[in-house]
Amino acid sequence: MEPLPEVTDPRVIDGRKIAQGIEAKVKKEVEEFIKERGIKPALATILVGEHPPSKLYVKLKHWACKRVGIISEDHKFPQETKQEEIIRLIDTLNSRKEIHGILVQLPIPKHIDERDVMTRIAPEKDVDGFNPLNMGKMFIGREGFVPCTPKGIIRALEEFNIDPQGKEVVVVGHSNVVGKPAAVMLLNRNATVKVCHVFTKDLKSNTKEADILIVATGVRGLIKADMVKDGAIVFDVGITWQDERVYGDVDFDDVLPKVKLISPVPGGVGPMTIAILMEHTLLAAKIQAQK
Ligand code: GUN
Repeated sequence: MEPLPEVTDPRVIDGRKIAQGIEAKVKKEVEEFIKERGIKPALATILVGEHPPSKLYVKLKHWACKRVGIISEDHKFPQETKQEEIIRLIDTLNSRKEIHGILVQLPIPKHIDERDVMTRIAPEKDVDGFNPLNMGKMFIGREGFVPCTPKGIIRALEEFNIDPQGKEVVVVGHSNVVGKPAAVMLLNRNATVKVCHVFTKDLKSNTKEADILIVATGVRGLIKADMVKDGAIVFDVGITWQDERVYGDVDFDDVLPKVKLISPVPGGVGPMTIAILMEHTLLAAKIQAQK
């Protein structure tokens, strides 16, 4: 990947810079934790299949672990692996005291039930926040381990001193990974939240109302300038790979003149997601050390 140009436009959210700040804090706290407790935080990742972007994301997560001093363990499986084998590994990782976080990279092959897999991860090791217990806690406003991407969005809003309370938030996309948890987390912060998706009849009439627009559909360039309110804050969570490049769901050049803030692709929410994962892995190690 070619290096990204430095962000100089004040409207562009520099996700790499925010992530660097988070990682620097995690690195320092990891050092302190190791010194005080003699325990090295450790993350195990599980990747099933040959999905090239997933391979890259997992690699990026391991690199981040290295940067902050977290031990990482890489478990890779071929596409045709049976669900029982993944469950067996999760059971083993759940019982290994020296492993604090478990992450199953999504998507996983269709013959494996994602929900069964996520349910099997011990809630205290569920650094991705996909276990139904952690999802349920988030739903009742007790946010612990929550999905990393929406948490990165919340962190970015905090960074810019933007309080979601009373704001019109429109989320486009209703996945368990981004759309649904983003909606709930913003609702927890008293935003007025609407969730649109592929069956929404008139997307534009909804997105045009958004003070904060979060787009996570995987449809390249879906959002154009005429679909965005003047002065909106836009988070582009989409990623489409084409010709060795990544593109977001927002037509960046078209939309930029209208926004107050926008997160670009690449260099927006991606790095923040990984930094939050590091934070969660450290938190998991701290929680487990108290037992
Ligand atoms: N695939 C896309 N985003 C994510 C994520 O945040 N966590 C995992 N495990 N898989 C993903």
